[in-house]
Amino acid sequence: MYPLLFRVVLSRMDPESAHHAAMVVIRMLGAAAFSWAPRAIAKPDPSLAVQALGLSFPSPFGVAAGFDKDVAAAQGLWALGFGHVEVGTLTAIAQDGNPRPRLFRLVPDRAVVNRMGFNNHGAGAAAVRLRRLRTRRHRAVIGVNIGKSRVVDFADATADYVRSASLLAPLADYLVVNVSSPNTPGLRGLQAVETLRPLLDAVRRAAGTTPLLVKIAPDLADDEVESIARLAVDAGLAGIIATNTTISRAGLRTDPAVVEAAGAGGLSGAPLKTRALQVLRVVRAVVPAEFCVISVGGVETAADVQERLDAGATLVQGYTAFLYRGPLWARQINRGLVRLRAGRA
Ligand SMILES: Cc1cc2nc3c(=O)[nH]c(=O)nc-3n(C[C@H](O)[C@H](O)[C@H](O)COP(=O)(O)O)c2cc1C
Repeated sequence: MYPLLFRVVLSRMDPESAHHAAMVVIRMLGAAAFSWAPRAIAKPDPSLAVQALGLSFPSPFGVAAGFDKDVAAAQGLWALGFGHVEVGTLTAIAQDGNPRPRLFRLVPDRAVVNRMGFNNHGAGAAAVRLRRLRTRRHRAVIGVNIGKSRVVDFADATADYVRSASLLAPLADYLVVNVSSPNTPGLRGLQAVETLRPLLDAVRRAAGTTPLLVKIAPDLADDEVESIARLAVDAGLAGIIATNTTISRAGLRTDPAVVEAAGAGGLSGAPLKTRALQVLRVVRAVVPAEFCVISVGGVETAADVQERLDAGATLVQGYTAFLYRGPLWARQINRGLVRLRAGRA
């Protein structure tokens, strides 16, 4: 049903408008009066539960940052079966992001290119919504991803992150420092160990007891990934999220003219799979067993999720395949994981 809807309707809509339409439906699913119904259908099997970051995740599979930037649909996503929802990226100062169009489908690659540029209503508005959510008895596990406000100079980046962290950490199940989006000029430069160390130290102090993670880019060299992983452990972080979107366009099947027309931005989806898995392995090789590693990038099926878990991921996230596979995606993955494990036993 969804493949037909995608081919006939959604793929002809502007991708960002299709996203907004989907958000309206997902938000409705999360309304307190309704959410029991989809949750009853999509609730992950109890055998999938994962204990990590001092939290109980009903499934290892969650929705990656960027889908619900403003904490509008977290309960609906939970109702659809995701084990956690990472909201954001949120910035201390609300911002519009880049001009539209800024989201492009590369259908033959089951990929998208985006240069959203952290469009969001700001950390203050998100705090109001998160506070309201925390009163719900049954609610999603919510990670909060923070980034640098575009108008703030790099010299003041730490203070800007600390502002968001102070506001949002008390309301988050875990907090993520995003230094890996390709769509805020210069942001990925913060991944250099000399600049990252003081940033992570300051945010960790502001985050208090909330587990803190850092999200990294797939375009780092392996030795840079290793250095950041060691730094994260050293700085007392709880984990690493690998990876964000890539600036590479290597190995695509989509017509080069279509890729060219999409222009600059981060590529996500199936073409990211190989590198995301490699980065996971590099990180896992240098961090202690109890350190949380969340793998993201190019995951489409239950077998993909299980492969990440087997390679040492504590949790797994996805975004782009949700656009291609539709609302039952998390449920399919959860059920597929149960089946795969039964087959192994
Ligand atoms: C449209 C779009 C917006 C995104 N926005 C964010 C964001 O705000 N912050 C972030 O950390 N990652 C963002 N991401 C990256 C995803 O969280 C994820 O790391 C990446 O897409 C790889 O996973 P995937 O291949 O399953 O999509 C975005 C991805 C897409 C496609």
